[in-house]
Amino acid sequence: MDIRDIRIFLQPQMEKVEALIKASLETDIALLDASNKRFREHPGKMLRPALTLLAAGAAGEVTEDTLRYAAATELLHNATLMHDDVVDGATERRGLPTVFKFMGGGPAVLMGDFWLVKCIGRVLSAQNVTFRVVRLYADTLSHLAEGELLQMGKASKGDTTQEDYLRIIYGKTASLFEVAGLTAAISVGASEAEISALGGFARELGLAFQIKDDIFDYLDPSAALGKPVGIDLREQKITQPLLCALETLAPAEQQRVRTLVTQAADKPEYVAEIQEIVKKSGGAQAAVTRMEAHKKAALAYLDILPDSLEKAYLIGLADYVVDRSV
Ligand code: IPE
Ligand code: IPE
Ligand code: MG
Ligand code: MG
Repeated sequence: MDIRDIRIFLQPQMEKVEALIKASLETDIALLDASNKRFREHPGKMLRPALTLLAAGAAGEVTEDTLRYAAATELLHNATLMHDDVVDGATERRGLPTVFKFMGGGPAVLMGDFWLVKCIGRVLSAQNVTFRVVRLYADTLSHLAEGELLQMGKASKGDTTQEDYLRIIYGKTASLFEVAGLTAAISVGASEAEISALGGFARELGLAFQIKDDIFDYLDPSAALGKPVGIDLREQKITQPLLCALETLAPAEQQRVRTLVTQAADKPEYVAEIQEIVKKSGGAQAAVTRMEAHKKAALAYLDILPDSLEKAYLIGLADYVVDRSV
């Protein structure tokens, strides 16, 4: 199954989600309006709304609330990207200069805040919104901030373990996928068992998604991702390919490499040396194995759902997440 089939299937609903996002962002502040428009017109892959729509369809009939939660989650995702690019000092996203690059850190933080609060407004616009749903988004927001801050703390120490890494990628990425799965199921009145299954599917998918993103970072610099590769090491981030590589080394060598990572920010020769170690020890391939394990765990959660086109497309989405080239 091709991601294009999924996109065609979802198009009518996705147009409604996009209209809700647009309506959420209305403002009479010209500077904000122009930069919102610029961001909206380069929407990225829209994976989280696709996940929301398919998960809802797999557990029932998509409702108006499903569309609102899909829009809310995408608003939140974009807010985190604007903030993340300030945190990472990133200059390119979706093939364009980041908001941080073309407007500066202050405006990028404020614009991210605006999108974030519009996420909350969009959640509250749902007809059957409950404290549970608001709490889920609130928890996700704190997981996102905690994930990013844990990552920053670990970057300066160079002591990231597999356990830390899982916590980081759950916080910064998978928690947002998870809220998409949970709110999708809630929006169609699914049973508790289905809510928890779709939350579990989405969480595991999010973990696989972030591992894929981290594998991309070790790719050839000519890969057309719309964002630079090789920057994780410059940001002193120890991700799955390097963690897997470290596991193959003797303790003293592991420590030496970890120390190199903490000094990699302004030492391209250290970055090159670590990349070479990862390459030699097959770190990226080992990371693929871990990613596949999360995909498998995700698919197992779908077992309790009845067969449907949406369920088949959720499986297709999981294939796309691990096989994608962007
Ligand atoms: C980027 O997410 C941030 C990560 C979690 C790695 P996406 O790759 O889904 O971003 P867009 O929305 O498609 O640009
Ligand atoms: C992804 O962070 C998660 C968030 C944006 C919160 P990364 O820093 O790993 O992702 P990219 O590479 O900038 O998209
Ligand atoms: Mg980043
Ligand atoms: Mg980051």
